[in-house]
Amino acid sequence: MGQAVVSIVMGSDSDLPVMRQASEMLDQFGVDYEMDIVSAHRTPEKLFEFASNAHKRGIQVIIAGAGGAAHLPGMVASLSPLPVIGVPIKSSNSIDGWDSVLSILQMPGGVPVATVALNGAKNAGILSAQIISVSNNSVREKIIAYKAELKAQVMRKSIG
Ligand code: RP5
Repeated sequence: MGQAVVSIVMGSDSDLPVMRQASEMLDQFGVDYEMDIVSAHRTPEKLFEFASNAHKRGIQVIIAGAGGAAHLPGMVASLSPLPVIGVPIKSSNSIDGWDSVLSILQMPGGVPVATVALNGAKNAGILSAQIISVSNNSVREKIIAYKAELKAQVMRKSIG
């Protein structure tokens, strides 16, 4: 692995089974990343240090996942100049997933978080790679091939 350009953070190791799906997509697209646990509520100082400095370490996109009272993505976005993709997680403390979704989705004007679907870490991984591909032809070629394969898979299943 080279210098990480995507940072994947999550509120708890219990989020890992979902968030791993983002890293699997980055492996597929050949994008270097780092992963860590950063809790908005349990490690607020670590959150501040991470979000304030990620761009100085060469990180270009942040994926942040959390569940329940999911403040991590929004707080990261409040401190970082980088694009932040939020992954709402249906965690053990979530009522039915809506709390996670709305906590990440309903950000105030001026502080965007690009929110994917509940447990949508796979799409977060793809979207982060697409952002990287704006200035990386090798990643762009892999995304073009990935989309072509998606189409081919459906065509192979066509029954008409
Ligand atoms: C959130 O609380 C975490 O992101 C996780 O989704 C949820 C539950 O955390 P644990 O109690 O499993 O550590 O902050």
